[in-house]
Amino acid sequence: MIAFDNHCLHTGAALDGATVRDGVLMCPRHFWRYDVPDGTVRSGGTGALPSYPVTIDPDGGVWVDLPPPPSGSLRDQLLRHVQTWERGR
Ligand code: FES
Repeated sequence: MIAFDNHCLHTGAALDGATVRDGVLMCPRHFWRYDVPDGTVRSGGTGALPSYPVTIDPDGGVWVDLPPPPSGSLRDQLLRHVQTWERGR
């Protein structure tokens, strides 16, 4: 089982309110579609949603294995983000 990042690859809008039907997650904003098994964009653009492994304990606890938080100052994080930002998203 995996969890997806809560940001659509189109504009970064939250995927809250997305629908999942027949193995396809559809963004509620402009209807980009993602394959649920791996987050690959099915229609609208290219790429894949970041995904994270999920473990469910026998007692019902749900654990999402998130990557470590970004390192460095906020300035350094913003500079890295700007350097990797794609125009036209
Ligand atoms: S924000 Fe998701 S399709 Fe535009």
